[in-house]
Amino acid sequence: MAGQRRPTVEGAEIERYQKMVGSRARRVGQTVADDYPERFGDWLTLIDERYDFGGIRVPLVVNQRAITSTYHALRVGRRGLDANAAMRRHDRPTRILVEIGGGHGRTTRDLVLLLGVKTAFYIDLPLNMLLAARYLHRFFGGRVNVVWHDRDPIIEGGINIVAPWLIDRIDVPIDLLVNFLSFQHMSMAALRFYGERLIEPRVQAVFHENRDRPRERHDVGMTDYPFRAPFTSVRTRETFVPTDPHGRPVGSVIEEFLVRS
Ligand SMILES: C[S@@+](CC[C@H](N)C(=O)[O-])C[C@H]1O[C@@H](n2cnc3c(N)ncnc32)[C@H](O)[C@@H]1O
Repeated sequence: MAGQRRPTVEGAEIERYQKMVGSRARRVGQTVADDYPERFGDWLTLIDERYDFGGIRVPLVVNQRAITSTYHALRVGRRGLDANAAMRRHDRPTRILVEIGGGHGRTTRDLVLLLGVKTAFYIDLPLNMLLAARYLHRFFGGRVNVVWHDRDPIIEGGINIVAPWLIDRIDVPIDLLVNFLSFQHMSMAALRFYGERLIEPRVQAVFHENRDRPRERHDVGMTDYPFRAPFTSVRTRETFVPTDPHGRPVGSVIEEFLVRS
């Protein structure tokens, strides 16, 4: 392994992995075909992982189209379709988007591509800001703008990667704020910080997917999020049932759409 950038997976192990990814692609593909038949081509484009950013890429043939995908792309690839459908059902355009806890930037990328977003704000902790800047630059080039110092400008029409300590710099109305598997790791203090400074004053709709109950001592279950008051929950859907080490279900992961009342 010495000198290699990533561990290599070979032989029977890679075959087993490819089969598992292939079966996931068929399973998720079926749900996309059932729920969004007119968007199947968009989904294929989103999960076609041409950029080798990490993770084991697996060649697949889906609906006679040859693509290269990853387990992660298949796990997160329909989020954009779900958020898009939720906004359209409520007849809401998404010109200004915020993602909190955006990881390496994948879902911000998908939503900007799918929803016709004009200006995006990505927020995460510093190490992830760095990853996201690199990843998003690959797709959006000069539109990517890192806001790290007090004097760094916010760019209208840009993909602004904003440090959490500078969120007051986002002073425009937000059409949609998204969060995936990230509020569930935050303390009440962190949720209040985002709630009071950004979500309650500026956001029209929130689309998020998080655990319904706390897992660690400082976590907060989704019904107790402190920024719910201005919003009505118009749709929930269970996306995953986590299990404990004995295989027993422990709560649910829920996708929820909140709109300003
Ligand atoms: C499990 S990852 C999910 C990443 C991505 N949303 C996804 O679903 O692939 C949780 C993310 O939340 C971010 N996060 C945790 N606490 C945060 C905070 N206080 N402010 C901003 N981001 C935070 C982490 O850095 C990480 O990127």
